[in-house]
Amino acid sequence: MPIPKKNQIVGIDIGSHSIKVAEIEDTAKGMILKNFGTIGLPQDAILEGSIKEMEIVSAALGNLLQNLKIKNRNVALSISGYSVIVKKITIPRKQEKDLEESIQGEAEQYIPFDINDVNLDFQVLYSGEEEPEEEGKESYMDVLLVAAKKDIVEEYISLLHLTELNPAILDIDAFALQNAFEISDHEQSGCHALVHIGAQHLTINVVKDGISIFTRDSSYGGSQITSEIQKKLNISYQEAERIKLGAKPFATEQRSTIEETFSGTVTRWGQEIKRALDFVATTFTDIKVENILLTGGSSLIPGFSKYLGLETGLKIETLNPFANMEIREKSFDTGYLNYSAPIAPIAIGLALRSIGDR
Ligand SMILES: Nc1ncnc2c1ncn2[C@@H]1O[C@H](COP(=O)(O)OP(=O)(O)OP(=O)(O)O)[C@@H](O)[C@H]1O
Ligand SMILES: [Mg+2]
Repeated sequence: MPIPKKNQIVGIDIGSHSIKVAEIEDTAKGMILKNFGTIGLPQDAILEGSIKEMEIVSAALGNLLQNLKIKNRNVALSISGYSVIVKKITIPRKQEKDLEESIQGEAEQYIPFDINDVNLDFQVLYSGEEEPEEEGKESYMDVLLVAAKKDIVEEYISLLHLTELNPAILDIDAFALQNAFEISDHEQSGCHALVHIGAQHLTINVVKDGISIFTRDSSYGGSQITSEIQKKLNISYQEAERIKLGAKPFATEQRSTIEETFSGTVTRWGQEIKRALDFVATTFTDIKVENILLTGGSSLIPGFSKYLGLETGLKIETLNPFANMEIREKSFDTGYLNYSAPIAPIAIGLALRSIGDR
């Protein structure tokens, strides 16, 4: 059995539509894509970020790893959705070790769940140490707080154990997306909105000069369109999905119903993204978002990118997480990788983590 390079990790993005797995080798000459693959999941196996069909999801993940001949059992996983809260808080300055002891108490007022029901993590964004101490003036620090509901975290840990994998890192989608952006061929300086639309999640992360200044996760995604087509045309979910993707013809009289479903849903996504960007604009008056970097399976809906550009007044670009990576032609079909690029960034971002980093 090959011994995985020290600290190397397999990135696993468990989406409700498909699981994506990636492995990257970080060498002195740059990054090499070692592995990438996906496997579809049945509808309802995962709902609102919660794993409803543990055995099915585990079997799919196990098959995917086996097909890709991945032996490394150390994996990085991410979660998202309503069970994750990310918040920047400003609190009176203290030492990091004191913060570790008091974070629970500090966090309590910012988390809409019982504090005993969440796993907490934090990162000091600004320690306030550079500021001269003035008598009578309290100094502050900025801390990024990440809270994830324990029951959801435990579900994902159980899934990994059932699949005989070792959970080395648990991240959130928005930060994994940011990792992928950081190794892409896009300009890093300035302010960029990363927008990822999958089947059940819309993730936004606004990054300024390498630092995340705003994240939001909403329950929007392509499965809304599929479900609505299913209901309106009274057909199966699978048939509706095929109609949505243009793989199944439909009757002429159904055209307007389908088009209205697309435009109605996509308009709500556009408004949600616009609302988030308006919030950023009013909160950080000195910051201007320069462009939107769009990914996720549902970003491929024809015309969506153009519509989003009109709605937000921003330039819309796609983000290809493979762009700066060495791809060995004998190992990959370039057509498949180009096709997969929009759905790959979270798995790639996770594969970039190494054991032990924070
Ligand atoms: N060419 C396309 N046109 C329109 N929709 C597409 C296209 N390709 C994929 N999709 C849709 O994208 C979604 C899958 O995207 P993605 O793989 O990013 O989601 P996921 O990660 O599995 O889900 P989640 O949102 O739960 O993370 C599905 O709803 C699928 O129908
Ligand atoms: Mg996803």
